Amino acid sequence: MGTSAETFQLSLDAAEIYESKFVPALFGEWAPHLLDAAAVHAGQVVLDVACGTGVVARAAVERLAGNGAVVGVDLNEAMLTVARRLSRDVGWRQGDVCALPFPDASFDVVLCQAGLMFFPDPAQALREMARVARDDGTVAIQVWASLAEQPAYRPFIEVAARHAGPDAVSLLSAYWVLGDLEFVCSLLDSAGLDVTAATTRLGTARFESIAELVRIEVESTPLIDRIDADVYGKILADAGEALAEFRTSEGRAEIPIAGHLIAGRKRPPPRDIAPAVDSPALHPKGPPGP
Ligand SMILES: C[S@@+](CC[C@H](N)C(=O)[O-])C[C@H]1O[C@@H](n2cnc3c(N)ncnc32)[C@H](O)[C@@H]1O
Repeated sequence: MGTSAETFQLSLDAAEIYESKFVPALFGEWAPHLLDAAAVHAGQVVLDVACGTGVVARAAVERLAGNGAVVGVDLNEAMLTVARRLSRDVGWRQGDVCALPFPDASFDVVLCQAGLMFFPDPAQALREMARVARDDGTVAIQVWASLAEQPAYRPFIEVAARHAGPDAVSLLSAYWVLGDLEFVCSLLDSAGLDVTAATTRLGTARFESIAELVRIEVESTPLIDRIDADVYGKILADAGEALAEFRTSEGRAEIPIAGHLIAGRKRPPPRDIAPAVDSPALHPKGPPGP
């Protein structure tokens, strides 16, 4: 995963792999928790921002149980092609989170799972999410916690840095850049959202093996272009040892991954303040003299 909007113009094959591999391995588990954080319930109109192949939007459709509406928006057409194939119960739209293609106050709830860290301007993205939420509506996001809080990714990235140099840390770290919970809460507040819930949860990412996890992390990032076969082999071998405690008896990998779930309520615009009785505005020529 990269950090710029362009990086996300994926091929259809990549979007299919995302849905068949990464959604069950990682993202699917978080969708119900994000809906819980936003208290999504029947009767609401819900937007899933950076919906990808639509795992959150589909979970919202189930929760609304025929009473309400769900829209999913993503920059990437290939992701949306897969999303459209999987559900006709969601209104899928192509669009950039930094200029959402919806009028103000269109949604009761705006959700964004595992997206904010990839947007070029997260503060603007949150302002846009707040703009399209109605007054008192909810914006809820999920982001991964910081690398320091990751029980498995932290030792893995230490192994990569040992063999590939300190650059490896930033090359493998796009996921964790919004891991500071207080900072993300302050971004919501600046976007006009009162934070109502902020929790950190430990989920489980599931892979066929530790080696598969290493291959995904190395080969889907620019690190693959910086290392030769020898270094790659050392990273694979040492990661196998460093992550041994996360290998199941069948050789599969169950990797703990920490994420934050944050919900905010949109502050209504300030009401016009009636002038105080002795306000100079009532005495344009100045207050009466003694
Ligand atoms: C890691 S995926 C998460 C997808 C989905 N929310 C999920 O949980 O499976 C990140 C998504 O953000 C989308 N994205 C990246 N930049 C975007 C932008 N500026 N506007 C809208 N979507 C964007 C990508 O196309 C991708 O589908």
